[in-house]
Amino acid sequence: MTQHKTFPEGFLWGGATAANQVEGGWNEGGKGMSVSDVARFKPKLNVTNYKAHNEVTSKDIEAARTATDLTLYAKRRGSDHYHRYKEDVALFAEMGFNVYRLSIAWSRIFPNGDDLVPNEEGLKFYDDLFDELLKYGIEPLVTMSHYEPPLNLTENYDGWYSREVIGFFTRFVDTICERYKNKVKYWLTFNEVDSMIRHPFTTGGLIEDRFPEGTFEQVIFQAMHHQFVASALATKICHEIIPGSQVGCMLTKLTFYPYTCDPQDVLKAQQDARHTYAYSDTQVFGEYPAYLLSKFKNKGIVIKKEDGDDDIMKNYPVDFVSFSYYSSTCSSANPENLDHTDGNTLRGVANPYIPSSDWGWQIDPTGLRISMVDLYDRYRKPLFIVENGLGAVDMVEADGSINDDYRIAYFKAHLQAMYDAITEDGVDLMGYTSWGCIDLISASTNQMSKRYGFIHVDADDLGNGTYDRKKKKSFHWYKEVISTNGSSLFQE
Ligand code: BG6
Repeated sequence: MTQHKTFPEGFLWGGATAANQVEGGWNEGGKGMSVSDVARFKPKLNVTNYKAHNEVTSKDIEAARTATDLTLYAKRRGSDHYHRYKEDVALFAEMGFNVYRLSIAWSRIFPNGDDLVPNEEGLKFYDDLFDELLKYGIEPLVTMSHYEPPLNLTENYDGWYSREVIGFFTRFVDTICERYKNKVKYWLTFNEVDSMIRHPFTTGGLIEDRFPEGTFEQVIFQAMHHQFVASALATKICHEIIPGSQVGCMLTKLTFYPYTCDPQDVLKAQQDARHTYAYSDTQVFGEYPAYLLSKFKNKGIVIKKEDGDDDIMKNYPVDFVSFSYYSSTCSSANPENLDHTDGNTLRGVANPYIPSSDWGWQIDPTGLRISMVDLYDRYRKPLFIVENGLGAVDMVEADGSINDDYRIAYFKAHLQAMYDAITEDGVDLMGYTSWGCIDLISASTNQMSKRYGFIHVDADDLGNGTYDRKKKKSFHWYKEVISTNGSSLFQE
């Protein structure tokens, strides 16, 4: 008898977005500005230069606050999901999603971050969105903070550097857990908590020019400490208000291979890996790992803690570990003369064995399996893949079809690798939400033309277009994968 390969029963299949990249409606329903509303699409820049795209100064904020031409502020438009969420959710349901990862824009609920009273219209928007999802049997998986600190917190508090922001955030968490306690049971605290190091403005609302020269690294780690305490408190609040809820950390899974078997390259790869594990280690084990403490000591970084911080971090660790995975890179002790490649907010040494996407991110499905095994062996907590996908240029054919076979090939290979990690390596995986299930604005480049979706949105980088939705070829393909619980992946 032939046995069909399928994913575990009850496996959660779906897609993921973030409010600041998909919603639009940036100044509607009482919403305040967030850090993402001042990020600009920079048409002349090399799209692989992440830093240049995302660097924001005090002057940029001033310009953004008073701008009358909003063409380049792409995240203010998103994909217009704010107005079209019903149509979008119906399409997700048609694909068979039983989970949808979204984030709540903090500035819709507390427009300035420090408000005492929440904005009812903002709360109502997510109530309606959750109701729409639940109507189709789709579980919401909610990120509390996905690159959306209210802008006022940057301007008047120096973002997450300020200890006060912990209190503002927990007020927000308390409000949303209380309000949605009967609708949401899966939560993530901070998207890619490790990313504060790579893009401190987007993640923490930190602007270098507001701090004395030479102190920014210290500032970043202090802000991160505040997020760790806030994340632990959020976990506590969530568990208390919603019995049975599950709270995860969210890590950028950057996977590094030694470029050669030279022990110096192997050591470099291990050190690079630790740069990202340090932050999930802290959230899972509830304390800073020894190697991060050594780093602080060696660099003269002193974290200001308050009494009780260590206990809070220790007492409220996360229930599960979620992560994004897009690509892998190599590490070398002597990278100078080697080819380089781009990746999720990071440049690394290119791997000659694997191809790259249009944006130079290396495509490595086996790397997903390796990553899953590494994370599961390290943490022994259930995993959740909450981002994975291919940013590509899509062509709409004369007959209106979008034949994104390259995207199907990417997903097929990654989902097969994921299956092997579950069935052969014994990894406990709760579910999978592909990134940008509907086209949205790129976090790094603010482009619409870097598309991840199964659903096409008719808009270009400058916001021209009808914003109409169209199913791509991959829409039908993913629908088949979900309806067969993965077994179609293994049929010719
Ligand atoms: C992740 C972020 O790092 O990568 C998402 O959590 C982001 O917000 C995704 O969109 C893909 O990156 P990009 O820059 O291609 O949008």
